[in-house]
Amino acid sequence: MKNLHSFLPVSIVVLVEKSLLVALLVGALAFSMRAIGQAPLPDSPAIEAKAHAMLAKLTLEQKITLIGGSTVTMGTQPMPSIGLPSLRMSDGPVGVRSWGPTTAYPSGVSLAASWDPELMREEGVALARDARARGVNFLLGPGVNIARSPRTGRNFEYFSEDPFLNSVMVVQYVEGVQSQGVVATVKHYALNNQEFNRHNASSDVDERTMREIYFPAFEAAVIKGHADSVMNSYNLINGVHATQNEFLNLKILKGEWGFKGVLMSDWDATYDAVGAANYGLDLEMPYDKFMNAQNLLPAIQSGQVKESTIDDKVLRLLRLALRYRFMDRPQFDPTDSTYSVADRAIALRGALESITLLKNEGNLLPLDPAKIKTIAIIGPNAYPAVTGGGGSSLATPFEPVSTVTGIANFLGSKVAVLYDRGLPEASDFFEHTTWVNGVKVEAFPSTDFTGTPATSTQQSINDWRADTRGPEQSSPRSIRYTADFKAEKTGRYLVLGAGANEDKRKFFIDGKQLQADRLIEGHTPQSWELNLQTGQTIHIQADYQPHDSQNHISFGIAYEPGLVSEQARKIASLADVVVVAVGFERYSEGEGHDRTFDLPWGEDQLIESIAAANPHIIVTITGGVGTSTSRWLDKVPALLQLYYPGQEGGTAVADILFGKHDPEGRLPVTFDHSWQTSASYPYFYPVPGADTSLHVTETGGHAVDYTIEHIRYGDRLMVGYRYWTTTGKHPLFPFGYGLSYTTFNFSKLQAPAVAKSGSTVTVGFDVTNTGKVEGAEVAELYVSDPSAKVDRPERELKGFEKVRLAPGETKHVTLPLDARAFSYWDTPAHKWTIDPGRFVIRVGDSSENTPLHADLTLR
Ligand code: BGC
Repeated sequence: MKNLHSFLPVSIVVLVEKSLLVALLVGALAFSMRAIGQAPLPDSPAIEAKAHAMLAKLTLEQKITLIGGSTVTMGTQPMPSIGLPSLRMSDGPVGVRSWGPTTAYPSGVSLAASWDPELMREEGVALARDARARGVNFLLGPGVNIARSPRTGRNFEYFSEDPFLNSVMVVQYVEGVQSQGVVATVKHYALNNQEFNRHNASSDVDERTMREIYFPAFEAAVIKGHADSVMNSYNLINGVHATQNEFLNLKILKGEWGFKGVLMSDWDATYDAVGAANYGLDLEMPYDKFMNAQNLLPAIQSGQVKESTIDDKVLRLLRLALRYRFMDRPQFDPTDSTYSVADRAIALRGALESITLLKNEGNLLPLDPAKIKTIAIIGPNAYPAVTGGGGSSLATPFEPVSTVTGIANFLGSKVAVLYDRGLPEASDFFEHTTWVNGVKVEAFPSTDFTGTPATSTQQSINDWRADTRGPEQSSPRSIRYTADFKAEKTGRYLVLGAGANEDKRKFFIDGKQLQADRLIEGHTPQSWELNLQTGQTIHIQADYQPHDSQNHISFGIAYEPGLVSEQARKIASLADVVVVAVGFERYSEGEGHDRTFDLPWGEDQLIESIAAANPHIIVTITGGVGTSTSRWLDKVPALLQLYYPGQEGGTAVADILFGKHDPEGRLPVTFDHSWQTSASYPYFYPVPGADTSLHVTETGGHAVDYTIEHIRYGDRLMVGYRYWTTTGKHPLFPFGYGLSYTTFNFSKLQAPAVAKSGSTVTVGFDVTNTGKVEGAEVAELYVSDPSAKVDRPERELKGFEKVRLAPGETKHVTLPLDARAFSYWDTPAHKWTIDPGRFVIRVGDSSENTPLHADLTLR
């Protein structure tokens, strides 16, 4: 104001000051009103009355219209006669991705690896702001399914292998999102723990396992987080699809947990109108394929479905629209930026808090930038940035930071940053396979290689395209490719074959079929290895039945030692230090198919070859959960697990490599030695020989026969660390593990020796930073119940806290253990039960390292 005073007459100054004050006050009021006005109203008699009054104005047909979605708006159907707009939706879960570029946050598993509920809430708020900036009413996230197997294609979207960690995190996420007037949609309810054949796979699970492992995150989201929307999964549960599963939807979700919100289907996860209508589904997405007037009107007339059942679904939607004031205000909020610098900072924080240091031999890390003149960055995941896995969760960021650009930005112009991809692209691999006399192509006028084929010759089998789909086939066809390959050198050869998700393909070498891994249905090439002698010629045949009008078939062979580029080896040998960035990406890990436990083709060879060229090597792995490292781990001094670090990943990698930030991520999943040693391995595949037929009489009396596959969860409660600690064996890296550049000490455990069964017990202890730099430790509290009457996992996580400490600093932590922390689900008694007796409390920094322990007797 000083400057104004010196130039203007006093009366004008007063006027200007007053109007500024008024403007500021109005602004502040508007801001606070917005802040207050965004959170949903609680349910109330007034809202109930209003929802019923709106319902009364609708015809039965209009009500049915409202329980099917709209593909035009990716949302609900509008109903102008009662002032109800279409409610817009967007995926989810870690970026508001459906309406153009947006902030791409780190993956769900990253958020769990941060073990930071506060970060989770902030990200929830940020996601909701991104949603409001795009007029989105429903965010299709969070995803909270348990990471049962390292091969599950969507683990990266979800949080962890532990129900307690998931439950704590989901509540923060949901509350953060909904506090800003956006509905959070918790998915995929339930037991969607594999991707292959997801429409027809039945997760066959006993009730205790469901209650103790697979339900708690949904239960917490509904009961503690007050989630207003839940999404049913594609799969069946004990032989019944989720969208028509009475036990899941009516008994548990709407019955026991008292869910009052909207239960929507996953996209195309509805299989029967009457079943879905009667057994809990409120909204069929993306459109009314089944729950439409044609199917439901006769069912209502014949009494198969009650009109009150439809009314209940519509009321849920209306109540929600009223509580969130979707009819009183535009959801598009121009005060929230579409491009947000603040959200970039949250995305960076998420990456910094989650990236996990798994190995650091000889304290190679942190690197001293002053000592580096040349750094080589090599690998398919070094550039461009790999921000997320594939499928509906993949957000397009405005300007993602790759590992190459992040490191180069950090080091500035005085250090030479050398880059090479190290491996060929898949299409180059296929293109450069040299076939003796080319490839003979026989295109048959049928889908089964019968009839007279049109014959031609081509140089390669390379129709590799990652994600384009053509229109469905108009005329039937099947194609057979035959060729000869002659080995120029003696040694190991890599064979790659690929097609599109739904295509059928079989590959033969000298008449013998290459065994395909049926879990890998994606576009990602499958690989095999062969030993050949110089001059040896093999005959190949590829039988291809394309699903759509485009060919995706690709097949090639290459001499393995020649795979890694010479330039990569050269820059590795010249550099002071090498970062090798490998792992999965959108095509090799994503929705719709499971993934390999091994790294994608060629990457093991790449690491081995670069490690031989330079021992100062740091490997970074992008990927949801555990991966095979057995071929090279002992040759590599440092290993970082990035998960999918979102758009700021490259900056976070650089900050951690050079010690600007202490690595503070801790594994939210156990890393197994191999796929075969993982707890779910014997039970992950469908049960051979099980009855796969499901005979269903659908709406209108149509009999439908499905071929389903039963996945028997024989691992029961023994998921991840529960299995390892109970069997007394040791995984590669345990749950909760992660290294730091400092050291921590746990001391002074305080826990009562005796307490009353059912009461809340408080456990206290100290955590001290005993090293030289600031860092954060995750204190994990496990409970064991050795005197239980039933078999229980040896220990279970029941509390945790992330503690940020300066060097030498100590903090006292207290954690409450409520009745549930000591209980198991007693199936015959149908309740949570505590067996009084001896319990053991353990505190430490991983499921394997719990230096503090004390006995506790519950009476
Ligand atoms: C996914 C859901 C997603 C929906 C909408 C489905 O394929 O399974 O998670 O929300 O698509 O994009």
